[in-house]
Amino acid sequence: MIIVIGYFGILFIHAELNNRLYMKSILDNSNGNSGLPRPIRTFVRREGRMTVAQQRAFIEYWGRFGVEADDRLLDLDKVFGRSTSGVLEIGFGNGESLAAMASAHPDVNYLGIEAHRPGVGHLLLRVARLQLTNLRVMCADAVEVLEKQLPDACLDRIQIFFPDPWPKTRHHKRRLIQPRNVGLLARKLKPFGQLHLATDWEDYALSMLDILSATPELVNTVSGNGFAPRPAWRPITRFEQRGLRFGHVIRDLLFARR
Ligand SMILES: C[S@@+](CC[C@H](N)C(=O)[O-])C[C@H]1O[C@@H](n2cnc3c(N)ncnc32)[C@H](O)[C@@H]1O
Repeated sequence: MIIVIGYFGILFIHAELNNRLYMKSILDNSNGNSGLPRPIRTFVRREGRMTVAQQRAFIEYWGRFGVEADDRLLDLDKVFGRSTSGVLEIGFGNGESLAAMASAHPDVNYLGIEAHRPGVGHLLLRVARLQLTNLRVMCADAVEVLEKQLPDACLDRIQIFFPDPWPKTRHHKRRLIQPRNVGLLARKLKPFGQLHLATDWEDYALSMLDILSATPELVNTVSGNGFAPRPAWRPITRFEQRGLRFGHVIRDLLFARR
């Protein structure tokens, strides 16, 4: 009798566990209440603490330098109030290197997209301090902005410096540089527009080279079809400094839209 009760008890616990795991998998893959699968993000929103200055930056400067993420197509000439060459940087981190580039090239319009709010706050402060008129900022998932808001063939360069490497094989699906996203990036470039990537992560660098080389819309600007020498005009970024401290080799990739 005791054995029979024990047997059914174990069956009950097993069924209950399966049920909970099933419900958890549904919740994990759901997108709010929409029932749609949640997209696999290339970032984790670890917000950390915003400093008082960063919070103030959102209040004081977002209206001037921020661009809202929604479903509306952006007209970059209208966003900047002038028509000139346009550069998009995805995942600018704290934005120091992007601000330095914008400051060094006032004739170029720079749009930065970053998912991490404290980083956006940091850049807003920098833009205000340097009084940059050629830089605008979005706080959003860049993949969604590319899909919904940026017209095709609207950019002269897209730069992505030291994207999250997602080193574990089971997380490679989260990498920003993967065939689907690279096709999307290529479409947003004008003919001869450049896609400039850099990483300090060896296997990601090789994967980037394979993926970009296999993208029909792109061509490697480097003779020998390998990595590019580091352009002098690219300021060292925060994550690059970290990679250098660990003794990592830095790889640049410079492809052009056919
Ligand atoms: C490793 S950090 C590099 C930051 C900076 N480029 C540097 O070199 O210091 C990668 C950054 O990309 C951002 N990021 C990743 N995926 C993104 C996405 N889909 N849209 C916007 N930002 C993203 C992350 O929030 C993170 O700040």
